[in-house]
Amino acid sequence: MKKCWLDKKAFVVTGASSGLGKGIAEKLIKIHGCTVYAIGRSEEKLRAFSEQLGDSASLFIPVKMDVSDSAAWEAFTNELKTSGKSVDGLINCAGIFPPFNRTLNVPEDTFRQVMEVDYFACIKAINALYPILSASPCPAIINVGSASSLATIVGTSAYSAAKSAIKAYTEALIYEQKGKAYVALVMPGFARTEIFRSQNSTIDSNKLFVMMSMPAERMVNKIYRGIKRKRTRMVLGADAKAMCFFYRLFPRLTMAAIKGVLKKSNMKLFEDVFK
Ligand SMILES: NC(=O)c1ccc[n+]([C@@H]2O[C@H](COP(=O)([O-])OP(=O)(O)OC[C@H]3O[C@@H](n4cnc5c(N)ncnc54)[C@H](OP(=O)(O)O)[C@@H]3O)[C@@H](O)[C@H]2O)c1
Repeated sequence: MKKCWLDKKAFVVTGASSGLGKGIAEKLIKIHGCTVYAIGRSEEKLRAFSEQLGDSASLFIPVKMDVSDSAAWEAFTNELKTSGKSVDGLINCAGIFPPFNRTLNVPEDTFRQVMEVDYFACIKAINALYPILSASPCPAIINVGSASSLATIVGTSAYSAAKSAIKAYTEALIYEQKGKAYVALVMPGFARTEIFRSQNSTIDSNKLFVMMSMPAERMVNKIYRGIKRKRTRMVLGADAKAMCFFYRLFPRLTMAAIKGVLKKSNMKLFEDVFK
């Protein structure tokens, strides 16, 4: 197999217990023999993932941790330092997506919670790990944002705000770290993962959603290929590309069109946004 910069590196992957983070972690381990510190909240899911890895499980180091907990990041990095472990890359993939709702009906706590997990946790991870990462010959920081930072979807103000914040933060970091570290921003469109578990209806039975989204595995492949090629900005999925293109040209029309499509769909998923 052709040599790749990812081979045998050590990565910290947050949100590695499920969905996109899990898929990326699996590729790093199975294809590149990477050591992965897999961060998630669910011990059970991390254990199941480890079992699924079979012979490669020795490269998998589960870390049960809440990414929004600053003390946990400090403890984790102290442990790495005292045991002399190196880390080459960080993939911030943990995220939550609150139920679709009208902005004025979203409790302030929800805004804070999403900001903590989808935005501040990435900064905490980067600040905590940077001293270790910078000792690597090829340090990498990959932040998984969302297409919702390219064109806000009605009913997602808290999530879109957090993802817009991480977009701005990462874009600045990409240019500040040029020549020092590979920094990337991933903006996926809809992918069928567990992130929609807090919604008021299951998304799998939702025709429009299934039509607009892609299987998680396909999205994982796209993210993986982008990282392998060291792409710094990834807009992934037809929906994400369309949002990016149309919003740049016709911002108001695009917002109105997205709202119109969701409203017309009459789906339970968006019920709270339009009632
Ligand atoms: N799926 C999509 O359509 C889509 C689209 C655009 C962007 N994204 C972004 O992609 C990333 C991955 O999402 P996904 O679709 O793979 O969702 P997912 O299947 O729900 O996975 C989310 C992961 O984040 C972890 N997590 C959540 N809160 C955490 C916390 N406080 N501390 C530690 N871990 C936490 C979860 O851990 P536990 O399961 O152990 O709790 C899980 O491993 C997210 O940042 C999401 O915003 C997803």
